[in-house]
Amino acid sequence: MSRAESAPVLTIDGPSGAGKGTVSARVALELGWNVLDSGAVYRSVAHAALERGVQVDDEARLIELCAELDLGFSPGHDGVQVCLDGRDLGDALRSEEVGVMSSRVAAISSVRHALLELQRSFRRPPGLVADGRDMGTVVFEDAPVKVFLDASVRERARRRHQQLKEKGESVTFDRLFRDLEARDRRDRERSVAPTLPAADAVIVDSTRMSVDDVVARILSLVRQSLP
Ligand code: DC
Repeated sequence: MSRAESAPVLTIDGPSGAGKGTVSARVALELGWNVLDSGAVYRSVAHAALERGVQVDDEARLIELCAELDLGFSPGHDGVQVCLDGRDLGDALRSEEVGVMSSRVAAISSVRHALLELQRSFRRPPGLVADGRDMGTVVFEDAPVKVFLDASVRERARRRHQQLKEKGESVTFDRLFRDLEARDRRDRERSVAPTLPAADAVIVDSTRMSVDDVVARILSLVRQSLP
């Protein structure tokens, strides 16, 4: 096993809006570890496809786009920063259009397969915090610490509503609640890499926890599990 492959990995999987991005970045900063935002990997493929006019049924070209991805991640106090082709894309990857395209791209098994090695290449000493849907079940199945970060649909919709209000965007709570419910169902029921906890994952329900409490709980799990 190479030095990179033996670096410890903490996987944080869970549904949309559970706070994985914020928590992963904070935990990575505390541990001084690298970070992988795998949702941003799918969003980057979607972004490139939209920019170059590649259709979602053109698997061969989508796979070419996967091979060309030049991505970097760094943990910040507000979440994980993503750099694509040397550019900090900021909110461009978070747009609704990219979000919808990324969920279609993420349902294609050949695309998921083409992105496996890229995701694994972020495993480097002193360690990696990997956030997504299938980090503990597929990509880093051998990770020594696995967390499934959950929260009720109502609480996740409330948090997103608050964030959007702060940005001055007006979306109703009911609409966000319904969208999250539908997205959860699609993510859980899809045949490739559904969003489910790994058998050896610790489930952390953040519904009634602050970000600080979630970070502290996860750090204690890491410190208990590693020598
Ligand atoms: O977490 P996110 O919203 O940035 O994810 C974008 C899309 O990618 C979303 O549809 C879920 C999907 N995804 C996935 O299928 N597997 C992952 N490991 C991460 C994200």
